[in-house]
Amino acid sequence: MARKITNRVTWVGKTDWELKKFHGDEFTTIHGSSYNSYLIRDEKTVLIDTAWLPFDREFVKQLKEEIELSQIDAIIALHGEVDHTGALVELMNQMPENTPIYCTANGVKSIKGQYHQDWNFQVVKTGDTLSLGETSLTFIEAPMLHWPDTMFAYLSEENILFSSDGFGQHMASEFLYAHEVDKAVLYHEALTYYANILAPFSMMVTKKVKELLAMNLPIEMICPSHGLIWKENPSQIVEKYLEWANEYQENQITIVYDTMWNDTRKMAEMISQGIQNKDKEVTIKLMNAAKDDKTDILTEVFKSKMVLVGSPTVNNGYLHSIAGILEMIKGMKLKGKKAAAFGSYGWSGESVKQITEELCHAGFNVINEGIRVMWTPDEEAEKQLITFGENLVQE
Ligand code: FEO
Repeated sequence: MARKITNRVTWVGKTDWELKKFHGDEFTTIHGSSYNSYLIRDEKTVLIDTAWLPFDREFVKQLKEEIELSQIDAIIALHGEVDHTGALVELMNQMPENTPIYCTANGVKSIKGQYHQDWNFQVVKTGDTLSLGETSLTFIEAPMLHWPDTMFAYLSEENILFSSDGFGQHMASEFLYAHEVDKAVLYHEALTYYANILAPFSMMVTKKVKELLAMNLPIEMICPSHGLIWKENPSQIVEKYLEWANEYQENQITIVYDTMWNDTRKMAEMISQGIQNKDKEVTIKLMNAAKDDKTDILTEVFKSKMVLVGSPTVNNGYLHSIAGILEMIKGMKLKGKKAAAFGSYGWSGESVKQITEELCHAGFNVINEGIRVMWTPDEEAEKQLITFGENLVQE
């Protein structure tokens, strides 16, 4: 159902309550999501973005209930990913074939690359404007937020920033605006989105946000391509992005492990006990990489000042869940976080050394050589593990 935002702007997107996985199986979206699309009516009428491919017909049907497609003068594609361009083929099949599609040069590549269509692409770059009548759209390229093709668009008079994936959250809601929903859930989802999608591009986030602020544009609303619209104090999420992009950490230590016969789990718990002995304030999260959700693990890692990774040695290596999560953590390109490894073994015992090397490659400040325990921790080993934990917060 289309929803009016202002006299000129209407939300015509799709709320996806069922979505539980995004980017294939990579990103867990327990609160669903939305594919936000916006119709701007002035002397010219333009459509910003569409919806994910499985909803292409529903999207076009809903749009036709709101406006005759022939009245849409142009389409703005802020970003080429299929969750926002998926309905383009269905839409363009029903629109005049020369309808212009405004996007960046990289947008042409990504859209053509996916749909193999020679539509009437109009390439725009930062500072270009499209007059709609009383209002105009100004385009601001935002490469790697989070694709090379991404751009923002700013609507004058209404003072709305259409920010593509930036400032978004995977969150389906009966409401349209951020201030109408549970703030804790909203910020959890916004942070989860940042940690899992934007964290590798934090340097570009900082640069782009500062560039945006230097433009001194009055911003009354930020309309992202997923989730809730920031209408009350929209700068709150801009300030949060500056915080998250700047080597963000809370007073938290996350212990990620996997275990075969519970020995490495016991090690994780003993280390945790040692940390608690010396620091009653720090938040500690123990997460089993084979059982906890990987999106949650990445979010907790993102929030942490220190990350401990543990696996028993198996076949001269470490467990596959640890290999998987280490690969994902490496991709986040985190900075300013401490780390160490641990694990049990029976024979060769390479896992701790190998995990330590991976943590170094992932950009962590590895603070020691880690700790190994042969077979099941006995009383002596338990004391060593507790001391290991105590020393982590004393160093
Ligand atoms: Fe929501 Fe990068 O697409």
